[in-house]
Amino acid sequence: MVLCRTSMLILTLFLPIFSSPQDAFMVQYFERRMTHLEERLNQCEQSAATMTQRFYDLASEFRGLLSSLNAVRSEVRTQMESMSSRVDRVEGELEYLENKIPAPQNIEIEAALLEQQVMDAELEQLKTKAKLQLLNDCSTALSAVKSLKIVKKVGDTHGSWFKDPTPGSSKMYFLSGLRNDTLLEYTSVKSFTEGSGIHGPKVVKLPSYWQGTGHVVYKGFLYYHKADTPNQIVKVRLPNGTQADTMLLPGAGRLPAYSLNPNTYLDLAVDELGLWIIHADPDYAGNLVITKLDPATLALEHTWDTLCRSRGAEGAFMICGTLYVVYNTRYGGRSSIQCLYDIHDTIHSEESPVLFFPKRYTSHTSLYYHPQDKQLYAWDDGYQTIYKVETQRKDQVSFGTE
Ligand SMILES: *[C@@H]1O[C@H](CO)[C@@H](O)[C@H](O)[C@H]1NC(C)=O
Ligand SMILES: *[C@@H]1O[C@H](CO)[C@@H](O)[C@H](O)[C@H]1NC(C)=O
Repeated sequence: MVLCRTSMLILTLFLPIFSSPQDAFMVQYFERRMTHLEERLNQCEQSAATMTQRFYDLASEFRGLLSSLNAVRSEVRTQMESMSSRVDRVEGELEYLENKIPAPQNIEIEAALLEQQVMDAELEQLKTKAKLQLLNDCSTALSAVKSLKIVKKVGDTHGSWFKDPTPGSSKMYFLSGLRNDTLLEYTSVKSFTEGSGIHGPKVVKLPSYWQGTGHVVYKGFLYYHKADTPNQIVKVRLPNGTQADTMLLPGAGRLPAYSLNPNTYLDLAVDELGLWIIHADPDYAGNLVITKLDPATLALEHTWDTLCRSRGAEGAFMICGTLYVVYNTRYGGRSSIQCLYDIHDTIHSEESPVLFFPKRYTSHTSLYYHPQDKQLYAWDDGYQTIYKVETQRKDQVSFGTE
C-alpha cells in the first residue's frame, strides 16, 4: 500500500514541466500511464482493504479461540481443584477406616478360632452320637457280606490295611508283610487309592518290630504283637511313634489264631464296644478265645472262651461284642462266616445261617470291621479290598437255613 502512494506522488511532481507537441505526446503518454497507475492503485487499495479485512477476521477468530481456550483452561482448573479436594476427602476417609479396622492378622486369628469352634461342635456332636449308639443301639448283627471293591494291589501278599475306627477320622493305615518296624499313614482311603499325589503317606517308625497281621489303631494309638515274643502287645503313640505301654496276654502265643494264617498269633480287633484280642488256646481244643482290653491301662477286662475253631479259619472280626469267624480252604476258596460268638448271648451260632462272601476265590490275611462305615477292610492275596456289609438288630436276626 505504501508503494502505491509513492508512485502517484512522483508523477504529480513531474507533470507541469512539459509544453511542446512532443511534450503533448508525452503528456498523453503520462496521462495513460497515470490512468493505468490509478487503476493499479485502486486495485492495490482494494486488495489492501481485503487483506486488512482478512487480517481483522483472523485476529478476531484467534481472539475467539483464545477466549474459548481460556474458558477450557479455567474449567479444567476448576475440575482439578474439585478432584484434589475429593482425593483429600477419600484419603481422610481411608485413614479413618484404617484406624477402625483391626490389623489383618487379628482377622485371621478370628477365622481360625471360628473354624476351631465349628470343628469342636462337630466333634462333640459325633461323640454324643457315638455314645448314644453305644448305649442304645449296640445290638447290631451282621446279616450279609455284600459287594466287593478291589481298591489296590500293593505290598506283600500278606499284610493289613484299615481305616481309623475313631469317629470323625478319615486316616488309613497300611502295614505290609508279616514283620516290619514301620507303618504308613494316609490321610484318607482316597489318598491311598490315588497313590501318586503330592501328599505321600506319613512313614511312622516304631520302637520295635511287629509280627503277623493283627494290628489295630484305636484312639490315636497303635497296638501290635511285638515280633519275637510269644504274647507281648505294644501300645505306641501314633503322632510320634513312641512306646506308651506293653502287656502280656496270659496263655497266648502257643498256636496261631487261625490255622490258615500261621504267622498271626494275636489278632487285635476294634468294635463299637472297644478293644479286643483274639487268640487260639491249645488247652481249649484250639478254639478261639476273646479278651476285652482296657485301652487306657491295658488291663484285661474279661475273657470269653468260644466254641469257634481256629482250624480252617482265616480271620475274624468283632461287631457289637460278637465275634464272627471266617473260614476258607488252604488253597483259597470262597470265604464264609460259619461261626459266631456273642458275649451278650442274644444270637447263637447254631441258629445263624452261614454267611458267604461274594462269589470269588479269596485268601484273606486280615479283616477289619469299621463300625461307622459298615465296611470290612480286607487284605486278599495282596489285594486291598473293601466289602460292604448289611446289618440288622440282634433281636431281628432271622433264623433261616440260608
Ligand atoms: C518295611 O516296610 C517298608 C515300607 O512298607 C519297606 O520299604 C521295607 O522294605 C520293609 N522292611 C522289611 C524288612 O520288610
Ligand atoms: C511323643 O508324644 C508324647 C505325647 O504326645 C510325648 O509325651 C512324648 O514326649 C513325645 N516323644 C517324643 C520323642 O517326641
